[in-house]
Amino acid sequence: QIGLNVASLVDVTRAFIGQLTGVLVNIASSLGYQPWPSAAVYGATKAFVLNFTEALWQESRGTGLRVLALSPGPTRTEFFDTAGSDNMARGVRLQTPGQVVTTALRTLDRRNPPPSVVSGTFNWVMTLTSRFTTRRANVLAFGAMTQWQMRSSGPGH
Ligand SMILES: NC(=O)c1ccc[n+]([C@@H]2O[C@H](COP(=O)([O-])OP(=O)(O)OC[C@H]3O[C@@H](n4cnc5c(N)ncnc54)[C@H](OP(=O)(O)O)[C@@H]3O)[C@@H](O)[C@H]2O)c1
Repeated sequence: QIGLNVASLVDVTRAFIGQLTGVLVNIASSLGYQPWPSAAVYGATKAFVLNFTEALWQESRGTGLRVLALSPGPTRTEFFDTAGSDNMARGVRLQTPGQVVTTALRTLDRRNPPPSVVSGTFNWVMTLTSRFTTRRANVLAFGAMTQWQMRSSGPGH
C-alpha cells in the first residue's frame, strides 16, 4: 500500500508534473482526514496523498496546471471486494463513481478551486469531526465506530 499509494504517486508526479497541463486529480480518501485504527497503513497513506497534493496545489499556482485532492467516502466500486472486506460496505452510505466524478468536475469548474474536496455532504461532515475534538478523542471515537461497524456487519470479516 505504501508502494502504490505513496512511492508510486511521488515517482509518477515527479516524472510528469513538469510536462502536465490542464488538471491533476489525485485520489485521497475521507479516511485521510483521521487515523483509521483497523487499517492504519491505508489511512496514513491517504493522509499522505491529501497533504502531498495540497502542497502541489500551492506549488502549481500560476503554472496553468490545476491540482485537486479528491477524497471519496465509501463508493460502489470493486474496492471492498478486492480488499476482502465487502462486509464493511454493508449499512454504509455508498456513493456511485459518477457522483464522485461530478464532485471533482464541479469543484474544478469553480472560479477559484480549493486544494481538496470531499465527495458527499455526509462524508464531508465526518471529516470535520477531527477539527473539533482532541486527537485522542478523535482516534478513540473513530476506532470505536469502526469496531462497531465490523461487529454489526456480521461474520466473514
Ligand atoms: N471505493 C471506495 O470506497 C474508495 C473510498 C475512498 C478512496 N478510494 C480510492 O479510490 C481509488 C480507486 O479505487 P476504486 O474504489 O476505484 O477501487 P477498485 O475498483 O478496486 O480499483 C482499483 C484500481 O487500482 C488498480 N490497482 C490496484 N493495485 C495496483 C497496483 N499495485 N498497481 C497498479 N494499479 C493497481 C486496479 O487495477 P486492476 O483492475 O488492473 O487490478 C484498479 O484499476 C483508490 O486510490 C482508493 O484508495 C476508494
